[in-house]
Amino acid sequence: MSEQLRAVEWTGDGLSLIDQTLLPHRLERMHVTDVDTLVDAVRRLVVRGAPAIGVAGAYGVVIALRQAGRAGWDRAELLAAVSRIREARPTAVNLAVCVDRVLPLLDRGADAVLAEARAIHREDEQANRDMGGHGADWLLKRLPADRPLRLLTHCNAGALATAGWGTALGVIRELHARGRVELVHVDETRPLLQGSRLTAWELAHDGIPHRVQADGAAAGTILRGEVDAAIVGADRIAANGDTANKVGTVAVALACAHAGVPFLVAAPTTTVDTATATGAGIPIELRGEDEVLEWDGRRMAPEGSRGHNPAFDVTPGELVTALVTERGVLEVAAGELPGDRLV
Ligand code: MRU
Repeated sequence: MSEQLRAVEWTGDGLSLIDQTLLPHRLERMHVTDVDTLVDAVRRLVVRGAPAIGVAGAYGVVIALRQAGRAGWDRAELLAAVSRIREARPTAVNLAVCVDRVLPLLDRGADAVLAEARAIHREDEQANRDMGGHGADWLLKRLPADRPLRLLTHCNAGALATAGWGTALGVIRELHARGRVELVHVDETRPLLQGSRLTAWELAHDGIPHRVQADGAAAGTILRGEVDAAIVGADRIAANGDTANKVGTVAVALACAHAGVPFLVAAPTTTVDTATATGAGIPIELRGEDEVLEWDGRRMAPEGSRGHNPAFDVTPGELVTALVTERGVLEVAAGELPGDRLV
């Protein structure tokens, strides 16, 4: 499935996005030809995952240019629309990085921007494939060679979250292709269930054995010795290796550190923000309270209760055993810092 699964596609007159809010029950695409619809789609997580929103953002600049032509926007209006795309979600640095990469081509017109957006799209998929190989090689050198591996992942860092193939799931897919996966523990990923709805869906389609568990079960599973390695994606990695990823990730990393289990982060170098020194400088998206107070549209918490809904947390770099990028593997906990190695 991962061969054909394209979360983001350019169709000639706009963006075609898999509507990830409908999965796994319905596989439907949404067609986007204007900036408001794109910004709303990013905010509602129709398209999600750091690399995927980066690619969508780059194509979004083409959409903005074409809309400017149709609506007669002046330059200030065009730039304001581009800023709204760039700032649709704050934590994943890929969105700003990809928009900023196409921005210098604005004056050369939509075709020049489109060519660069297509290049970003191709490069991201290639980066995923490359990090899959690096991550699998690294793990197989360090983990038991006499049996397939039991892995754990949190959120969805698969084909749906990228240009294709996946970061953390790319490593898992590569290990599976080499016949080395016994089981993937899939954290359900509260409150929007990216694990049980999206990761389990991708693994099921690829025939990779997996088991969905509540987020709160992950630490116990790790401490009982049922996990050989945890591998997750990232939304932004600071120069010192501090890593923002889906809320709940830091609990997985802490349990891994306590149990002596490798905790891997797989992400393209577009996710590494060497201008941000530490995790304290990473903006964390706070989402609406209803996402945690309600279940399937029905209020669960008492009417008077307030909610707290940070979409991400920051795992300290010293808990990141290894960072897998398309350029290779950095052993962050052992002192190989992204800020020194990836500039
Ligand atoms: O809120 P989401 O679903 O966009 O959060 C996604 C994650 O946290 C992913 O792990 C991260 O973006 C990496 S995707 C390759």
